[in-house]
Amino acid sequence: MIDTSKLKSELLLEISSTDAPRTVLRSDKLKDLYSQIPTLPPEQRGDFGRLVNQLKNELEQAVVEREAELSKVELEPIDVTAPMDVNSNRPEMIAATDGSQHPLSQEITKIADIFNRMGYLVEESREVDDQFHMFESLNFPKGHPARDDYDTFMTEEVDENGDRLIAPAHTSTMQNRILKKYRSNLDKGEAIAAIVPDRVFRNEDLDSRHEHTFYQIEGVYVAKNVTVGNLIATLKEFLQEYYQQDLDVRVNPFYFPFTEPSFEFALSCPFCKGQDDSCKVCSGEGWVELLGCGLIHLNVLKMADIDPSEYTGFAFGCGIDRLIMMKHQIEDIRHLESAKLDFLKQF
Ligand code: PHE
Repeated sequence: MIDTSKLKSELLLEISSTDAPRTVLRSDKLKDLYSQIPTLPPEQRGDFGRLVNQLKNELEQAVVEREAELSKVELEPIDVTAPMDVNSNRPEMIAATDGSQHPLSQEITKIADIFNRMGYLVEESREVDDQFHMFESLNFPKGHPARDDYDTFMTEEVDENGDRLIAPAHTSTMQNRILKKYRSNLDKGEAIAAIVPDRVFRNEDLDSRHEHTFYQIEGVYVAKNVTVGNLIATLKEFLQEYYQQDLDVRVNPFYFPFTEPSFEFALSCPFCKGQDDSCKVCSGEGWVELLGCGLIHLNVLKMADIDPSEYTGFAFGCGIDRLIMMKHQIEDIRHLESAKLDFLKQF
């Protein structure tokens, strides 16, 4: 009779050393044993069959034990109260015995309050949107190369036009909705004035200044005779109120398909005012790039049934995380989405 003991110890060893022990039960060596049964003389087949079945049961038992052992390792308890490896530069730790509001929520409330006082309404964005709002309504026709500048996350599902849905990569996805929703203000001689502070998503490489999930505040203002001067004055007023100090701003030409002209807006560093070469906030440059803005493109107004020969407007999009990081000297954007108590307790 064939000796199965050597094979048994071999397979038991395999089971005890693999992370996928059940695959051993499907091993060819075991299958070979079964295929040998019909080749034996008939009087030996019964005994041999029983032997093979017994071996299979023992292996099965060993697999169950090994699986239990593996799952025990996975279930090792995590100490959620253990100190965490976050290291914010904020010097003082405020003991928080009760829960506190997340710093992003606290700051969004302050930002919204400033704009409310300037006559802006607050709107929410959404976490899944369509290509019309992400691109077409913003004057990026199909195939426009600037579509690739936004590292968008897309769903596998498609909408009724056969287009994938998008996790919005900027709050500008709300421009068309705001323009349409408040279009009737214009007929009444009132302005369209709204902000959208909300979450956006980009598929980027992460580092201390880049996070896949972050916040932007979109601003939209439309009325008669709106100029770049109005845009700059509004942003400067907002930033001075937010940082509670006089600031200089620098406006450089830029390109966005949905504004014309477009600008990049930088702020004199509220910390070192350009006086400290080693300043972590502005890298010693004295300026911090903060937002994109411009006068709303004619096509964007037209797509919301607003006559560009009668009305003009401005829009801006500002990274909220960066605003907060500058205010509180937070050195790594990833703290904000980390949910680390060590960090959150400081606010
Ligand atoms: N949506 C642009 C961005 O995220 C910023 C922007 C908003 C520019 C509004 C102009 C007008 O890069």
